[in-house]
Amino acid sequence: MCGIVGCIGKVNAKDYLLYGLETLDYRGYDSAGIAYLDSSKLELEIVKTIGPVKALIEKLNKPVESHLGIGHTRWATHGVPSIPNAHPVQSMNKKVTLVHNGVIENFQELKDSLIAKGYSFNGQTDSEVIASLIEDKLKANLDVLYVLSEIMKMLHGSFACSIIINGDNDHIYVIKRSSPLLVAKGKGFHLLASDALPLIKYANEVFDLPDDTISLVEKDSFRLFDVNLQPLQIKFTQRDPSLISRDLNGYPHYMIKEIEEIESVVRRLMVSYHPEDKFLFDEKLLKTINDSDNIIFIACGTSYHASLIGARYFRHIGKNASVFIASEWAFYPQIMGKKPFVIMLSQSGETADLIHCLKVAREHDLRMLLVTNVQGSSLERAADFSIILNAGSEISVASTKAYAAQVTALALLTNALDNRHNIIRDLNECCAVISEVRTSSKPKIEAMAEKLKNSRDIYFLGRGYDYDLSLEASLKLKEISYIHSEAIPGGELKHGPIALIDTGTPVIVFVTDDVTASSMRNNIQEIKARGAEVFVVSTEKLSLPGDTIVVRDYRRYLSSVAISSIAFYFAYYVSLKKGLNVDKPRNLAKAVTVE
Ligand code: M6R
Repeated sequence: MCGIVGCIGKVNAKDYLLYGLETLDYRGYDSAGIAYLDSSKLELEIVKTIGPVKALIEKLNKPVESHLGIGHTRWATHGVPSIPNAHPVQSMNKKVTLVHNGVIENFQELKDSLIAKGYSFNGQTDSEVIASLIEDKLKANLDVLYVLSEIMKMLHGSFACSIIINGDNDHIYVIKRSSPLLVAKGKGFHLLASDALPLIKYANEVFDLPDDTISLVEKDSFRLFDVNLQPLQIKFTQRDPSLISRDLNGYPHYMIKEIEEIESVVRRLMVSYHPEDKFLFDEKLLKTINDSDNIIFIACGTSYHASLIGARYFRHIGKNASVFIASEWAFYPQIMGKKPFVIMLSQSGETADLIHCLKVAREHDLRMLLVTNVQGSSLERAADFSIILNAGSEISVASTKAYAAQVTALALLTNALDNRHNIIRDLNECCAVISEVRTSSKPKIEAMAEKLKNSRDIYFLGRGYDYDLSLEASLKLKEISYIHSEAIPGGELKHGPIALIDTGTPVIVFVTDDVTASSMRNNIQEIKARGAEVFVVSTEKLSLPGDTIVVRDYRRYLSSVAISSIAFYFAYYVSLKKGLNVDKPRNLAKAVTVE
């Protein structure tokens, strides 16, 4: 995880670095720091703080004249959040200062070899090892680029490092493998950042650095090399600033803003992939899927929940389809059929567990589609096909609009393969439900949150599509409210979980799937008989008096598009009422770029 920034040239380094880190702190927020070259003293200053970037901004509230700097916001992997472990880190003799995102798998072995040579370390990070390794090699008066190419051959794992060499005030050096890093060019300056968000305010010509590369960044030039120092082509592209906005638009939190964008996201997908009465998907992708005999979905977290629905869609059109958690499949790949095809879902396109799976899939010659919100992300560049969600930046750590977008995109894709639903009519119905929830149901959801905010456990129950939605509702709640929660398929209650139900146990039940509704109603009676406090979310035609929230009817296969916002608002209000950090829940980060 972690966010990296860097800049050189005609730009105020302190301003860009702090703005950049503030923008990136959804990637990690346990400590932050910057190193900048003070233009008056020509000395490198390093300032670090524990906690979110706000603390660093407060500490640096003096004007600074500087045109070269690097910065970092951390999500701890090696070593607790502390000043020595916060970045930028330095080599033992302070020759090398760097910020690092990623994990060096063989760091202990490398560290031991440096200790044997007399090196000592301030903190526990793998990053400090990289800095001292570079310093050690530079002692032989070798060229910096040559040293970096040698170092890259020694490092196992993932890294994006921005590096300043003491006394070399005209360059930032970058080494990159598997962790994301982008460069932007402006008039007389270059900027670096882990994603496009901080760059776009300053310059919209952006280039995603490829893996296994070394970059030499100067104020007026940018050069790129492979690990053997062969020069590589660079192609800056324009980014659409409207899709990379950080504006809260008057909302108090990104999460609620993003929930309220769901309807427009669904509508944008309809226009993008079904303009003027026909589907617009890559014909080669459709043919590849048609020819395949097995669809293997791989994803994590919320994207995994969207994949469960995607797999149902594929099975409905007669394809074998199964779903795997990426961190499981990576070690125990299951490849079925003669012509398997992989579909990966990833909002960020940077999830390390998926990058691992991608490598495994390549070893087995599997072809793959990535469904993602981030064009140009590591996974997007590596996949054979991609479907871009264009949901706009999702900044809240808890994913909401991206989930609805993933399910919408998969519904459109499967309908492009087998036109069995009137998908546009059905999605329009969903939009009407989303709008109704946004304009009329929030007070009821908020009241439910008020009632349940101090619960120890909250259970979600559903069957079929309602069970898929329950899984996501439960994840969202636990992520941002820290309340223990489980999703239970209604039919499984009697096989064990009903033992958890006691007087007053809160259970939220979705009854929107007409195939399973009457069985769900029986389950509701069973848990009520054991004292559960039941809150039912239903559709008009399946509703009964006493249901907590009733929405207009829609087709059951789009449940997660139509009413996921109910689950998201509920989690949001519980977190808010508990006084928690809604957008940046503890221990989590937005892009999970470490395994
Ligand atoms: O970027 P990805 O979709 O690959 O991320 C996968 C999960 O880390 C992510 O969905 C996570 O579960 C979210 N915090 C859920 O809100």
